[in-house]
Amino acid sequence: MDKLVIRGGRRLSGTVTASGSKNSSLPIIASTLLSGAGTFTLHHIPDLKDIKTFTQLLNHLGAETSLANNTLRVSTGKVQSMLAPYELVKKMRASIYVLGPLLARFGHARVSLPGGCAFGPRPIDLHLMAMEKLGAKITIETGFIDATAPEGRLRGAHITFPISSVGATGNALMAAALAEGTTTISNAAAEPEIETLCNFLAAMGATIRGIGTTELEIEGSASLSPVEFNNVFDRIEAGTLLAAAAITGGEVTVKGVEPEQLKSVLKKFQHAGCSIETTLDSVTLKSGKSLIPTDITAKPYPAFPTDMQAQWIALMTQAEGTSHITDKIYHERFNHIPELNRLGANIEIRKNQAVVHGPKLLSGTKVMSTDLRASASLVLAGLVAEGTTEVLRVYHLDRGYEKIEVKLRTLGADISREQYKEFG
Ligand code: UD1
Repeated sequence: MDKLVIRGGRRLSGTVTASGSKNSSLPIIASTLLSGAGTFTLHHIPDLKDIKTFTQLLNHLGAETSLANNTLRVSTGKVQSMLAPYELVKKMRASIYVLGPLLARFGHARVSLPGGCAFGPRPIDLHLMAMEKLGAKITIETGFIDATAPEGRLRGAHITFPISSVGATGNALMAAALAEGTTTISNAAAEPEIETLCNFLAAMGATIRGIGTTELEIEGSASLSPVEFNNVFDRIEAGTLLAAAAITGGEVTVKGVEPEQLKSVLKKFQHAGCSIETTLDSVTLKSGKSLIPTDITAKPYPAFPTDMQAQWIALMTQAEGTSHITDKIYHERFNHIPELNRLGANIEIRKNQAVVHGPKLLSGTKVMSTDLRASASLVLAGLVAEGTTEVLRVYHLDRGYEKIEVKLRTLGADISREQYKEFG
């Protein structure tokens, strides 16, 4: 297994470029299943474990895929299987994204139920509700979702989500794009990843109104065509790199971003005493003299993202006082806290809120990654801890951060990847 070995205490400075967004790549790749012929060319796709897992699933269904230099080519003309097996789905919950496109194109899909995850229950009831509204008959047996469109094609419908869900909105959009008639989605997720999916489906030939808002209207098409498309930047990776600058008292520019998408996060950095400068496609963070305690509440976009919550907690361990970090999306997403406390932090958990008492001198030791963003928070803590921090089970981090140690080294961090054997 791989671990990251970090010798803390270096102030980061310099410029790095953001990678392509993982969370928009996944529904885009799933959408290629909607088209019956030709080849898609998708640029700015990050070379990540999650992307490999997802293309493996597409290959299993009969697609042909190749990823080179962050360009993914996908041909889905030969897809014949509508079965997403447990062995592949269990590796990544986002595999549920194949449900909508397979059902819409073939009138049938059989997808293994994804499991829970490291930070609490993550149901899929809203995905199923949306498919049922579009006319699908769904049964669940022997661990599989079996979905059928009785007349072979889904039909447009009014879908209202009781809560905002990125995944369920994505699945509904993809399914509606090939359904007969018009679909409206109320209380749709408005995350930039959904906006990007809408733009991708529109490029394929779908007609979508309300892009970027929580009210979407989709006119279903009889067929959709392959396209060449540029993926957007990864706003969570960008935010994590800025947090690395802030926690080390550094000054870093992240290029290749749209600052507007980072607005809620940038505002919090400013509140914490950092200065922020933006251009059309870059953000520069310059640390202040000290970090000011800054509360955040993770909620759906445009509010502060839950995927940056763990990194913010790591940052606040160095702030001059107490801060409160509340997660209103995943109430139990606090696996990183015991590990941060092992490094010397003083963080309490009160229901869905972390109370961080700073500043604390962190001292390096071995810590365990438990999920993707938790791992990122441990890396950030390692950058500021005294001595050596070893972040074990780094495969969690590799699911979502492209060449993270290379990027951090470019900025002056002392970080290396090493192999180790786990006992027990
Ligand atoms: C996506 C992101 C993930 C991010 C999350 C919230 C991808 C691949 N993953 O996950 O990184 O943390 O958005 O921004 O894009 N829910 C239900 N029923 C459902 C679906 C969701 O109750 O059928 C609940 C969830 O438990 C959660 C909330 O809705 O409390 C939001 O989850 P959702 O937006 O669906 O997250 P994902 O799409 O799984």
